[in-house]
Amino acid sequence: MQNTAGRVVIIGTGGTIAGTAARADDLVGYTAGALGVEQLVAALPALAGQALEAHTLAQLDSSDMDHATWAALREGVAAQLARPEVVGVVVTHGTDTLEETAYFLHRTLAAPKPVVLTAAMRPATAPSPDGPQNLLDAVTLVRWPGARGVAVAFGGQVYAGTDLRKVHGFRIDAFDGGDAGPLGVVEDGRPRLFRDWPDAPLHPAAQHLGEPAAWPVVDILTSHAGARGATLDALVAAGARGIVIAGTGNGSVHQALQAAAARAAGAGVTVRRASRCQLGGVVGAPADALPSAGVLTPVQARIELMLDLLAARR
Ligand code: SIN
Repeated sequence: MQNTAGRVVIIGTGGTIAGTAARADDLVGYTAGALGVEQLVAALPALAGQALEAHTLAQLDSSDMDHATWAALREGVAAQLARPEVVGVVVTHGTDTLEETAYFLHRTLAAPKPVVLTAAMRPATAPSPDGPQNLLDAVTLVRWPGARGVAVAFGGQVYAGTDLRKVHGFRIDAFDGGDAGPLGVVEDGRPRLFRDWPDAPLHPAAQHLGEPAAWPVVDILTSHAGARGATLDALVAAGARGIVIAGTGNGSVHQALQAAAARAAGAGVTVRRASRCQLGGVVGAPADALPSAGVLTPVQARIELMLDLLAARR
């Protein structure tokens, strides 16, 4: 049964879940993050009377997510988890970079209590918004005995913070758990998990992240027909200390980019290959020398490389 006595803290960062449109039937031309999370909670009668707090940290369209907000969110969530009366934290977020924030928190935040992110594809003003149910499911999950670590509640599914990927730009079933699939589902107010809450080994850099303005610059470049080495050279010239190439297929990289990657490596820049394919990752070690990001998606590989470069500074 749910822990109904403990306090749940809901931290808002913006997104479509907090979005409003001038016309109720406009599902595209809305302003993300227009409402504070306090308003979302107040509009959900099912949460009335529960022990919870709502705090708006940001009102971003998550396509504008930045490292300073990540650092503030991580710090804010950690402070709430440290309160004995708090059983866990819900974070409301935009869908566009939800998987990045989930992965960042998963690798940098010690979460012996649950931290459940949620979002919506339809704005709060839509005739049939998906946000209220997603928020309710997230709170249910946080209150569930044994819940821990960073997870995402969306569309009736539960995803581990490592597995999430956005696979559709408009539909309300916009997410997928990659090869791992969902961790479970929330059905009529009851979570049903297919596997145990995943272990979450923290990245060594999590102990000393420092100021986000000083985090190493890591960019993503896609390999494609007609790719130009000059694009990679330009990233290096603009200060990139790491570059993830979203390669074709099993992480293969256009030879023009391979030559530029070798030049970048000579200048002390770390270049890794990931795969731009929707599923899988990079299996094994392809013949050329570029190190692989393994099963990480390009956006996850970017975060991982940034953390690796931070750890290497020590
Ligand atoms: C956003 O990511 O903030 C806008 C899109 C969305 O939440 O679906």
